[in-house]
Amino acid sequence: MSKIKTFYQCQTCGYTSPKWLGKCPDCGTWNSLVEERKETSPSRSSLGHFRKSEPQFLSSIKAGYEQRTSTGIKELDRVLGGGVVTGSVVLVGGDPGIGKSTLLLQALSGLSRYGQVLYVSGEESPEQIKIRAERLSINSNDIILLSETSLRGIVDTALKLAPRAIVVDSIQTVYTEDILSAPGSVSQVRECAAKLMIFAKKSDIPVFLVGHVTKEGAIAGPRVLEHIVDTVLYFEGDRGHSYRILRTVKNRFGSTNEIGVFEMSDAGLREIENPSELFLLERPLNVSGSTVVAALEGTRPLMVELQSLVSQTNFGMPRRTTIGVDFNRVNLLVAVLEKRAGLNLGGMDIFVNVVGGLRIIEPAVDLGIISTIASSFKDIPIDPKTFVFGEVGLSGEIRAIAQAEVRIKEASKIGFKKAVMPLGNAEKMKNNFGLEIIGVKNVEGTLEAVLT
Ligand code: TYD
Ligand code: MG
Repeated sequence: MSKIKTFYQCQTCGYTSPKWLGKCPDCGTWNSLVEERKETSPSRSSLGHFRKSEPQFLSSIKAGYEQRTSTGIKELDRVLGGGVVTGSVVLVGGDPGIGKSTLLLQALSGLSRYGQVLYVSGEESPEQIKIRAERLSINSNDIILLSETSLRGIVDTALKLAPRAIVVDSIQTVYTEDILSAPGSVSQVRECAAKLMIFAKKSDIPVFLVGHVTKEGAIAGPRVLEHIVDTVLYFEGDRGHSYRILRTVKNRFGSTNEIGVFEMSDAGLREIENPSELFLLERPLNVSGSTVVAALEGTRPLMVELQSLVSQTNFGMPRRTTIGVDFNRVNLLVAVLEKRAGLNLGGMDIFVNVVGGLRIIEPAVDLGIISTIASSFKDIPIDPKTFVFGEVGLSGEIRAIAQAEVRIKEASKIGFKKAVMPLGNAEKMKNNFGLEIIGVKNVEGTLEAVLT
């Protein structure tokens, strides 16, 4: 006989409690526990769904290369690690209206070259999807639409059609009868994703899940989905800007710091093959406080503009604001500039911003941060054909970073003339790609090299 069990689950982190609580003891969110119900049948052991399998020697297992299919969108293939892997589950998260449905419809259109594909929508009617497809000039005969929110219905249809790929838009609208909670709740979302994962593995059909990001910024409220699926991609961008960045957060089949860059046009998402040019497009020339850093996102070099503004503090406490770079890192570098280069930044408000809504976390950006702050503080512009990269240590030394040549090559391609970089990198440089290369040892040397 089955019993119905009631429990309370935090909609942000998935914490469960037998009684209601005002504040989640796990993640600290207030008022996030919601009543959920589950059917428990005593006959089914908790390990019942595990397949019996024999232990094997690692050495006796033949490694098959995972099979990948190109989606026809190069930027998407890149973040997936070189195409979509058969039987993988890819979660695409992002704010509402950022372009998730558009991206996946375009990807399905690319995949439909190989056979039928299935687009399951619980959010939009087939007519709405048709209107979007027309806008994107997609008229493949192999895209099948299904308006369905029941997991069983979706899986049944998928088994019958055996499509080459499935998109489920969105996972929050899907429900399974096995769980009595409302669609979109943590247990529903988790259970449906887990079942789709089993389905994908058994059938070898890749499944894309759309997940809405909640106010707190996590997919489906809980982060519960992230460890179930194979790959997690976030689609980011500013509503005010037309470009969008697709970022890998987790990838069982590839590197996790790849990005893909797109532009939302009136005919769908357009790939940007050379994002450096785009990010430098509106750069003010010969203005103090602006510098270009050769950053690396995954395997891809990216020239980005870093801006800063240093101004006298009007109130007692100086303000430090950063967008796109680590706040603590900037504070640390400001201290290094004060102590090692003698800049008197104590009474100054400092704002640092990465242009284009990008986020850069690698240490190579350090040299850019100190150059741009010093440039703004002294009001001396940095030559627009100069770029920098390198890590700064606490004693003011400039440390070598990885993959210097890749960065220089990119810079030379888009017309830079002078590179200021760690001496350790400069000495090892075999090819200068037609650039003037200046190796610097410490913070003072850097400021001398860039502020002339
Ligand atoms: P959509 O894919 O519906 O976003 P999501 O599924 O992430 O909620 O795209 C939403 C926005 O994109 C919408 O505001 C309109 C805009 N858009 C374009 O600018 N051009 C286009 O060709 C399409 C299809 C959408
Ligand atoms: Mg959508």
